[in-house]
Amino acid sequence: MSGPGNNPSLLAASGSGPGCGRVLATDTPQRFDAAVAEAVALLRAGLVVVLPTETVYGLAANALDPRAVGRIYEIKGRPAHNPIIVHVSGLAMARRCTRDWPEAAARLAEAFWPGPLTVVVKRAPIVPDVVTAGGATVGLRWPSHPFIQAVIRGCDFPLAAPSANPSNQLSPTNAAHVFRSLGDRVPLIVDGGQSQVGIESTVVDVTTEPPRVLRPGMVGSESIWAALARGTDAARLGGLGGLGGDADEGMTGLRSPGMLPRHYSPRAALIILSWRDTEDLVRQLRARSGDEREPGACHVVAHSVIPAAGPFGSVRVIPHDPEAYARALYAELHRCDEDGARVIVMEAVPEAAEWWAIADRLRRAAAPR
Ligand code: TXA
Ligand code: MG
Repeated sequence: MSGPGNNPSLLAASGSGPGCGRVLATDTPQRFDAAVAEAVALLRAGLVVVLPTETVYGLAANALDPRAVGRIYEIKGRPAHNPIIVHVSGLAMARRCTRDWPEAAARLAEAFWPGPLTVVVKRAPIVPDVVTAGGATVGLRWPSHPFIQAVIRGCDFPLAAPSANPSNQLSPTNAAHVFRSLGDRVPLIVDGGQSQVGIESTVVDVTTEPPRVLRPGMVGSESIWAALARGTDAARLGGLGGLGGDADEGMTGLRSPGMLPRHYSPRAALIILSWRDTEDLVRQLRARSGDEREPGACHVVAHSVIPAAGPFGSVRVIPHDPEAYARALYAELHRCDEDGARVIVMEAVPEAAEWWAIADRLRRAAAPR
């Protein structure tokens, strides 16, 4: 992908010093192809590289090479009990990674792949323990970003890739975010522009009956249940906590090992509030404790009731549309951190199903340290 993500200052900084992450642009067909060739060569040599995906940037290694995957854990400081998603370039590769491709997986793949959905299935023996954290299942995703698709095809092996951030920090949605946090720990960062989805994929476990959403994402529960129910007895799924009623009920049960209460966190403290107007927000902040009492220390991100900038560290507007909001969310939080915010005040989002994944990320970012 081309465009604004290809930051000239980043490119100028690239290649500086041993072990430093070189940033490669992909904004012309020649640069795209050269970056694919370089990423493929490094991955074939067992190294870890940062690649763009449509959700967030990924820290990728050969999923079938335990030593290469081990390096991902070292670079991220990721706990060994947290399994890594395996990225494929098509259905045939997905099926090579699993012992069992149930009807539910086929339906979800048909409806949402390539795209921001991860399907948890029983793993095949070729998938090493280090990828699955020793578990019997593997999370598979066929991403839609053309760059990572081209790299997986070029490698002809699947790529294990968690989000390209140090463990428990914010996920990156452009190459500059990655460069700042992991630039000195990876040999290559490929700049594929701003991630178009902006938050991590929806994770659905289809090894259980009924399937369960382990992590909400922009593929919403309602469309998942609709795809699963297509042509089958909807009542069967509906009776099991899916269709119709509270579509997200299944999420409160078993969680992904990586779904810690505090996750996706900026450095600043984050609070979620609703307000009637500027004065109301100032009043609410003054009534709290710590840094929040001082409106000047607070950086506000609003989508509906935009306060006057005056009293606050900054006021930024984020679109009141779930897809556009998700695309912008992490970049706004990264920017608040770069601006040295001590407190980020996020305007609460609607309680509608299409905002569910965003509300989930905000809740985790706001959880106490
Ligand atoms: O959008 C995404 O999914 C991004 C891009 C790079 O593809 N990747 C990503 O990976 O968010 P990571 O590692 O940051 O989050 C993966 C989540 C974790 O919560 C992990 O516990 C869960 O998926 N997960 C992975 N494999 C699993 C499995 N076999 N069973 C249950 N949960 C699994
Ligand atoms: Mg992550």
